[in-house]
Amino acid sequence: MPHKESRPSNKTTRQDGWDRPSTYREPVGGAREPGPPADEVAPMADVIVDLLAPDDVSVVMHLYNQIFRPPRGEDDFLRRYLGRHNVIQMVARLEGRAVGFVLGFELKPRVFYLWFIGVLSANRRQGIASQLLDAFHHWAKDNDYETVRCECFNRQRAMLHLALNNDYDVIGLRYDSDHGDNLILLQKTLVAS
Ligand SMILES: CC(C)(COP(=O)(O)OP(=O)(O)OC[C@H]1O[C@@H](n2cnc3c(N)ncnc32)[C@H](O)[C@@H]1OP(=O)(O)O)[C@@H](O)C(=O)NCCC(=O)NCCS
Repeated sequence: MPHKESRPSNKTTRQDGWDRPSTYREPVGGAREPGPPADEVAPMADVIVDLLAPDDVSVVMHLYNQIFRPPRGEDDFLRRYLGRHNVIQMVARLEGRAVGFVLGFELKPRVFYLWFIGVLSANRRQGIASQLLDAFHHWAKDNDYETVRCECFNRQRAMLHLALNNDYDVIGLRYDSDHGDNLILLQKTLVAS
């Protein structure tokens, strides 16, 4: 995946003292080989990935509520981020329109956590989540994380396929009493390139 512009490891310091990665707009994508004719397979969408500040949750909330149930309010996101190191919110835009997002934060030193990833249903299978993941993994690697972990339910088949396609390993299973279901634990090692 080409990364043509500066990555968020180029830190800027805001006046409020919060040292955060500079917001960046990174054209990603176009890395796939040309596929079958467009009437057979949805064409690859070249998205711009924006890195948002942790307190900028409005777009993320709107996307989240179109993809997941039950809906969450802005406060739910802000609450979850409280006390977290390196909160990352990336939004994929197609011709300026937000179509997908990925959220994460540090789990512990060297281990980053992918909390949620989602793409609007009308825009799926166009490589958008792959481009979000690519930007997410690059950010994590550039910021000295060695692994990325995430969890999903067995029924979230698209996510399982996406994760395995992106070299995540299944490393375990845990019972989630909130949902009364098992979560599959996945981990990707970020190798140096
Ligand atoms: C999972 C999700 C983010 C994938 O987004 P996406 O933009 O459609 O994914 P991509 O187009 O980048 O897919 C990349 C690869 O993942 C796999 N994949 C993605 N969706 C798949 C599906 N429904 N069935 C099988 N494989 C799938 C494929 O290997 C695909 O490559 P291909 O299209 O060349 O075959 C999207 O389906 C989604 O938002 N689902 C609902 C939310 C969710 O379950 N999130 C995960 C829990 S946090």
